[in-house]
Amino acid sequence: MIYFDNAATTRVIPEVAEVVQKAMTETFGNPSSPYKLGLEAERLVRQARESVAAALGCRPDEVYFTSGGTEADNLAVRGTLQAKSRKGKHVVASAIEHAAILETLKHLSQLGLCEYTLVTPDSKGRVAPEAVLDAMRDDTVLVTVMAVNNEVGTIQPVSEIARLVKERDPEVYFHSDAVQALGKISCRVRELGADLLSISGHKLGGPKGVGALYCREGVRLISQITGGGQEREMRSGTENVPGIVGFGKAVSLALEQMAEQTAEWRQLQEQLLALLREIPDTQVIGDPLANAPHILSVGFRGVRGEVLVHALAAEGLFVSTGSACSSKRDVTSHVLKAMEVDPQVSEGSVRISFGWENTLQEVERAAELIEKAVRELRRFQRY
Ligand SMILES: Cc1ncc(COP(=O)(O)O)c(C=O)c1O
Repeated sequence: MIYFDNAATTRVIPEVAEVVQKAMTETFGNPSSPYKLGLEAERLVRQARESVAAALGCRPDEVYFTSGGTEADNLAVRGTLQAKSRKGKHVVASAIEHAAILETLKHLSQLGLCEYTLVTPDSKGRVAPEAVLDAMRDDTVLVTVMAVNNEVGTIQPVSEIARLVKERDPEVYFHSDAVQALGKISCRVRELGADLLSISGHKLGGPKGVGALYCREGVRLISQITGGGQEREMRSGTENVPGIVGFGKAVSLALEQMAEQTAEWRQLQEQLLALLREIPDTQVIGDPLANAPHILSVGFRGVRGEVLVHALAAEGLFVSTGSACSSKRDVTSHVLKAMEVDPQVSEGSVRISFGWENTLQEVERAAELIEKAVRELRRFQRY
């Protein structure tokens, strides 16, 4: 098996699985319990919070654990709109955000709870800071632009956008979805200028169902899950201790190995690009070498992306069409549409994304499998 779909999810790193299992079977206490077993679980959660804070360059008490990136995005959007209802209900977002942002905005606007403006990127998938500024209004309360796009890997000019937004209106909160950025590029929140930042565990060798929202001290959000008051009243519910512990471990490993790991991914990306470019009528989408090192989006004219994904899966190579979330729905990717990618290219596009296990040998084998599958499908489809 060659698994090149790490932007969808990753295999859990064995060292991470080990601490998760220990937290499940040994340190299984409730962090709210006053006796030793509870205090021990509380200590593990505190350590994980410190690991996440170290990766983000923030204070541990600015980190709120959630059930993943989707919940962190929801908390940022809904929590801001509710906290700032006196100022207004307008949100500016990029048109290429993940569904966790876009569907939330759509849903809230249908309920009359928000208005929003989407900013389209250029043909490389980059959102211009000036375009974000132009979309702001006096009643804007939140601007949200992701750090790395999950379908094409574009790194957005987040710090520049944050600076312009704050210059125009310091009261507006700036949020960035950094789910695909953590462990791949620096996510130090002070440098990015983010008030709010979403991250998730399962994209970097951690468990699924755990993530966090960074919320800068002084930023007021309304909690979306109320109950026992965990996470300093921001997110009630007994902490997912095993998940949080695994997340903390995965984040600290990713931080430790980031320079080495990203150099390796860049090498895999360059090699794969060179091999795939030999296939006729192939177009690389976005600007891969200026992108995050782990994501590559390529379109093969005359082939249907989903057919190619199935053909490759039958050979043991796993990639995806667009994002994993949209690939099960029969819709053209909103990201490729917003980038105005030629429909013939986007229809035949696949996303290839690397993770902690991948090797150069796998890249070479994958390129052979892709070349063969594209050639056969084109013959079959009389391209
Ligand atoms: C950019 C981005 N944001 C948010 C999410 C959602 O994260 P989670 O799966 O942890 O809910 C994903 C996952 O695909 C993502 O790629």
